[in-house]
Amino acid sequence: MSGKFKRILYGGDYNPNQWGKEIWKEDMRIFRDARINSATINVFSWAKLQPSEEEFYFDELDEVVEMLSAEGYDIVMATSTAALPAWMFRKYPEVARTDYQGRHHKFGQRHNACPNSPVYQKYASVLVEKLAQRYGGNSHVTCWHINNEYGGECYCENCEKAFRVWLKKKYGTIEALNKAWNLEFWGHTVYEWDEIVLPNALGDGMEDGVNTAFAGLSVDYRRFISDSILENFKMERDIIRRYDKDAVITTNLMGTYKGLDYFKWAKEMDIVSWDNYPSFNTPWSYIAMSHDLMRGLKGEPFMLMEQTPSQQNWQAYNSLKRPGQMRAQSYQTIAHGADTIQFFQLRRSVGGCEKFHGAVIAHVGTENTRVFREVKQLGEELERLSALTPGSANEAEVGIIFDWDNYWALEYTSGPTVDLTYVDQIHRYYKYFYDKNIAVDMIPFDGDFSKYKVIAAPVLYMVKDGMKEALEAFVKNGGVLVTTYMSGIVGESDNVYLGGYPGPLKDMTGIWAEEIDALAPEQSNEVVFADGSRNTCSIVCDIMHPETAEVIASYGKDFYAGTPAVTKNQYGSGSTYYIGTCMEEDGIARILDLAVSDAGVTPVISSSTGLEVTCRKAEGCSYYFVMNFRDNAQEIPSEFVGYTDVLTGETVKAGSQMEKFDVKIIQVNR
Ligand code: GLA
Ligand code: ZN
Repeated sequence: MSGKFKRILYGGDYNPNQWGKEIWKEDMRIFRDARINSATINVFSWAKLQPSEEEFYFDELDEVVEMLSAEGYDIVMATSTAALPAWMFRKYPEVARTDYQGRHHKFGQRHNACPNSPVYQKYASVLVEKLAQRYGGNSHVTCWHINNEYGGECYCENCEKAFRVWLKKKYGTIEALNKAWNLEFWGHTVYEWDEIVLPNALGDGMEDGVNTAFAGLSVDYRRFISDSILENFKMERDIIRRYDKDAVITTNLMGTYKGLDYFKWAKEMDIVSWDNYPSFNTPWSYIAMSHDLMRGLKGEPFMLMEQTPSQQNWQAYNSLKRPGQMRAQSYQTIAHGADTIQFFQLRRSVGGCEKFHGAVIAHVGTENTRVFREVKQLGEELERLSALTPGSANEAEVGIIFDWDNYWALEYTSGPTVDLTYVDQIHRYYKYFYDKNIAVDMIPFDGDFSKYKVIAAPVLYMVKDGMKEALEAFVKNGGVLVTTYMSGIVGESDNVYLGGYPGPLKDMTGIWAEEIDALAPEQSNEVVFADGSRNTCSIVCDIMHPETAEVIASYGKDFYAGTPAVTKNQYGSGSTYYIGTCMEEDGIARILDLAVSDAGVTPVISSSTGLEVTCRKAEGCSYYFVMNFRDNAQEIPSEFVGYTDVLTGETVKAGSQMEKFDVKIIQVNR
């Protein structure tokens, strides 16, 4: 067990190029005071590094690198390829993206390059090679940060051509493609590869990209775009690797961002890093889930590449982080597997749309601010923690399947309802475990299921090749699977499994669903349990027939009153719960209580508490992160009494209270 860095990186995006040099020295003094030991530089500097096609200019970046090296920083070197210089658009307009409406863009914004543009690929390679040659040997450059928050999509002619090549490789023959996308429907059969057009508003896309006439085509396009952008990442990575054998190479991901298949991406990254920007009302359980997902991508500790020390600028209401909130949020991040805490940004911009975005140094320009004092306190604490937690593991007995193909396909469905959104559905199930302090791994569809006692696979709409067998083996060997409505409906090209829902999951669930009712927001039904208790349900109701399954609860209303709503099927040595309708929290909890007790899942600590508790295991000891995200004070669980809080060095006393945003890290030697 050891981390990818020698210490917890503490710092963030730093853009000294936006400031006069007289400021730089002052920055160094202030950052030193806050124990900042890392800076991400050169994120958006292409126009400065290459003012024209023929000229390069590295003097200023050299100076920044020298200054940070002299201060002993871990430099996170970005490659500046996320925003193109103006000259490139003027000379090579094709480099810009074409949007969903078919509008070809001009110079502007960032993330504005077509991923399949040979011009972009050529100039990005040249720039990255120069950067890697120049800084690859600097031992202070411990991390390369490629591009920035890759994402978006393009519908230009380059992409159309590249898509056809991608499809040929995937399907081999045009007949296979027609079959996969079921193009017999509406007489869309194509006879030549060149007849395939991109699924945007000019083609088979519908309603600003929310819907599509052919989900098989649109899902393939999402796969293709994710792959195309990944090729851009790999291109830069491979160049850097030629010149820098030691530094880790990453790019900053965005949690549950829809556009890229992050499980596929993570395989190409040395370490996952991500940017955490919750809104003022994002549930803490949602943030925890996002961290678990980012850790799950590689099953390893990750970097927090960005968070704001205080405020954002791009949300509707950019409330301040309350006193203690940034610190507690940072510890929650480490609690779920982060080995770095980095901010966007170190000094607040003077202009541009991010001038109201929070920073370590505010517009006042001094360290005399609340935010700075909180950053400094955390810096001092992380310095001590640096020897303890990096590289330590989060272990879990529960896995929740998260799958980008399912994310895309579920949200493309035309019917039965518009209210099933993928991440929200996953979060409903995650939240149960979060509230109980049961550790969860977010896992891919082809993960190692044998590590888990319970696997939850909510809305497993698309069951891809191999999943049926893997899930059956898991249950047969004693695992408990929980799955739901809108599962087992289609295969990998979005064609329905015939013979009754949930298709390939029928054997292990022991039911089949005949119809799926959709409930409008003003409608609801009820789930009635054997003891007569009732729980409200909504959105969808499967009308189903148990074959080998036993009925756990039935519907309370409507023409299907009395028919099963929730079932359990013994299968091999394990069992499968099938939840046929969208229940409220209490109802979900009842079913998951059963699953957890069947499987003998143990929470992180045995007492129940309103505190969030996670555990990171290091060699010979465990660190329990105990955090209060509730409005009321909570008593510290008795398990921790007598142990040391490594943040204060104090021994935990019986009955002690934790206020909102209080954090303790308890070291237990075992
Ligand atoms: C993203 C980007 C940063 C900055 C922040 C603002 O995470 O990576 O460059 O724009 O958002 O919140
Ligand atoms: Zn394009």
